[in-house]
Amino acid sequence: MQFGRSKDLVGLDIGDSSIKVVELKELGRGRGWEVQSMAHEPLPPEAIVDGAIMDAGLVVDTLQRIWSQRRIKNKRVATGLSGHSVIIRRINLPAMGEQELAEQIRWEAEQYIPFNIQEVSLDYHVLEGSSLAGEGNMDVILVAARKEKIDDYTSVISQAGLEPVVVDVGTFAALNCLEANYAAEMPGHAALIDIGASVTSIAILQNGVSVFWRDIQIGGNQYTATLQRELNLSREQADAAKRMETVEGVSMEQVATILASVNDDLCHEIHRTVDFVKAFAGTETPLQAILLTGGGARLPGLQDALGKQFGVRVDMLDPFRKVRLPSRLEGQFAETGPETAVAVGLALRKAGDR
Ligand SMILES: Nc1ncnc2c1ncn2[C@@H]1O[C@H](COP(=O)(O)OP(=O)(O)OP(=O)(O)O)[C@@H](O)[C@H]1O
Ligand SMILES: [Mg+2]
Repeated sequence: MQFGRSKDLVGLDIGDSSIKVVELKELGRGRGWEVQSMAHEPLPPEAIVDGAIMDAGLVVDTLQRIWSQRRIKNKRVATGLSGHSVIIRRINLPAMGEQELAEQIRWEAEQYIPFNIQEVSLDYHVLEGSSLAGEGNMDVILVAARKEKIDDYTSVISQAGLEPVVVDVGTFAALNCLEANYAAEMPGHAALIDIGASVTSIAILQNGVSVFWRDIQIGGNQYTATLQRELNLSREQADAAKRMETVEGVSMEQVATILASVNDDLCHEIHRTVDFVKAFAGTETPLQAILLTGGGARLPGLQDALGKQFGVRVDMLDPFRKVRLPSRLEGQFAETGPETAVAVGLALRKAGDR
């Protein structure tokens, strides 16, 4: 990195349904952050499908428009990859030294990663503390991202005249946002669930630390598609119905029933994940809280369904608890909450940090 260059990065979350951008300014010791610039621009459904960029030109145009309209000077960004292209595994290995681990990790990874190992970029991190598998072992977080996907995303960013300095994982960014905003009030045993358009990412926390991650290929799109199919609606109509807006010829009861059935599917998958972690970690401690991010957090009935399923409080993560939104932006973004959590988490990254 060039000497004297700022380490500050703009958080850029390229989601299937929209692009979120957050630029933060740190206010100094313990006083939190302030938003410098922010954007939330929708993408047409055909631009990115299930994490695959189908129309790079559209994404590039949107990025350029955001940077020029918002007059964002900093062109260095931290971006995140989603569940379609990344696999996170907590693996257990016999205790070994750094050097040995560095030599072995690729070989170990082959057993856990369903992608061709030649085609992934690997990262790993040894977890501090005792291993879930007991004495003489160590736990390692393994992150594998498809090189092809990293290239696709970094290339649209470069084409837009921006510089991708950090490529993080969406879930880790959401966790980052949670930590920054909740600090000492971090829930102990909790689930942080990001419900996007095409994917739902779950992170399970134990004693305030994330120990397990999983992605489910159900998101807001699934709700729209089911409404479309069951009620014979256009995508626009189904999208309106999903938000409980009135659509001619459709009753609210019908919509609520269909939404509830998809809620059930999603809750079921989340439950399986939580049970799996309990068995894996040999703990019976129930979840104490569920925090939601992503636009799907607003799905009608979902918070209640999750609350009933787990018998816990379900809240939307507020990315602006410790991050001040200045009044000039407050009006514009009054509605923006959980969907910007990942972008806020990304904006907290610095060039060269870990
Ligand atoms: N008020 C609402 N009611 C129901 N659904 C909503 C509401 N607001 C947003 N959504 C849904 O949330 C989804 C968008 O959320 P988000 O912006 O987090 O997704 P994304 O980041 O673009 O997608 P992904 O993370 O899967 O790549 C869409 O499916 C959208 O329809
Ligand atoms: Mg998203």
